[in-house]
Amino acid sequence: MILDTDFVRAQFPAFAVPDLQGQAFFENAGGSYPCGAVIDRLTRFYTERKVQPYAPYTASRLGGEEMDEARARMAAILGVDGDELSFGPSTTQNTYVLAQAFAGMMEPGEAIVVTNQDHEANSGPWRRLAERGIEIREWKISPETGHLDPDDLETILDEKVRLVCFPHCSNVVGEINAVTEITALAHAAGAFTCVDGVSYAPHGFPDVGALGPDIYLFSAYKTYGPHQGLMVIRRALGNLLPNQGHHFNAGALEKRFTPAGPDHAQVAACAGMADYVDTLYAHHFSHEAAPAARGQAVHDLMRAHEQKLLAPLLDAVNGRNSVRLIGPADAENRAPTVALALNTNAEDAAAKLAKHGVMAGGGDFYAGRPLNAMGVDPEKGVLRLSFTHYTSKAEIDQLIGALDAVL
Ligand SMILES: Cc1ncc(COP(=O)(O)O)c(C=O)c1O
Repeated sequence: MILDTDFVRAQFPAFAVPDLQGQAFFENAGGSYPCGAVIDRLTRFYTERKVQPYAPYTASRLGGEEMDEARARMAAILGVDGDELSFGPSTTQNTYVLAQAFAGMMEPGEAIVVTNQDHEANSGPWRRLAERGIEIREWKISPETGHLDPDDLETILDEKVRLVCFPHCSNVVGEINAVTEITALAHAAGAFTCVDGVSYAPHGFPDVGALGPDIYLFSAYKTYGPHQGLMVIRRALGNLLPNQGHHFNAGALEKRFTPAGPDHAQVAACAGMADYVDTLYAHHFSHEAAPAARGQAVHDLMRAHEQKLLAPLLDAVNGRNSVRLIGPADAENRAPTVALALNTNAEDAAAKLAKHGVMAGGGDFYAGRPLNAMGVDPEKGVLRLSFTHYTSKAEIDQLIGALDAVL
């Protein structure tokens, strides 16, 4: 089965906008286009249901039901129970809340492992706990390849470690980390895992239940949805960590790590991401399947399409003298998030690409730690070319042509 990209693109209003015609979008790791189902739900909520939810009058009841629907359906796709998924303003803010919770549970002298491959979101909030007596241990990447080696993690794990934080995939290295294997190592040492899935989830929602981490975070504005952070916290850990929500919400797992009132409309609109998965599934497959299996089937279609488009792009950039490709040169085990260190300033290169109808960005993308560790000049930064399953072969060709002209 091959992904029908015409059908896919028809689900995204942006592809029909006149001003965006001819503009090839390669900054998807920053934020994706939203799908029509999400926009429709957001519009409907704001026009028909924008009242305090969960009251008995119809508009309110429908608003509350739609919020519950979003949580239940997304949790089912992610392979976890409905109350193991909660929503927050962003992944960074979700991590911040989690860090407060861990600080409340841990004793001084106990340790947290962080990496220098992560985006700052899954790094800074944890590192800051050093001020509260928590030992922070850094699991370091290879300075040449950016690879995070599980063997190196083993050498820094011991009984003091309560948590291991790492990315499913870094937003500049692009390599997909072995979440299940790493979680098994952490669990064997008595530690929990917190996985930043922000750079992975746009390439297909994972079955988090099967993958196995205790915490899995991602941002819906990069997975075709509204500006929300989604946070899976598995029940055993969620009940162990101290409640960060209102005291009267302590008994509701889905509210324990959401100190603020949720953004009702955006939570409700997240159901549009589930609609999108189901629409793609129904278009490509005829047999019935459970939500996590539908999610997995759609995930596999997306990944296969992306890998096919990624290979020629990697070939086009790898081996150029003026370019250092960050992360693996092989499409097999990486996301289509391709960061390039150039001899020149990356933002300038992005500006030149814009003249060729290519939308891309340059800078450090809040991934200063991995870029520093790999010796990338912070003044120059990296040019990042990131795409998703809705990207077409013609857009890849346009990008490669533009790179030929600019680099
Ligand atoms: C890998 C990764 N993690 C975390 C974040 C932060 O997400 P948010 O903006 O939802 O805090 C980003 C944003 O770019 C990211 O790329």
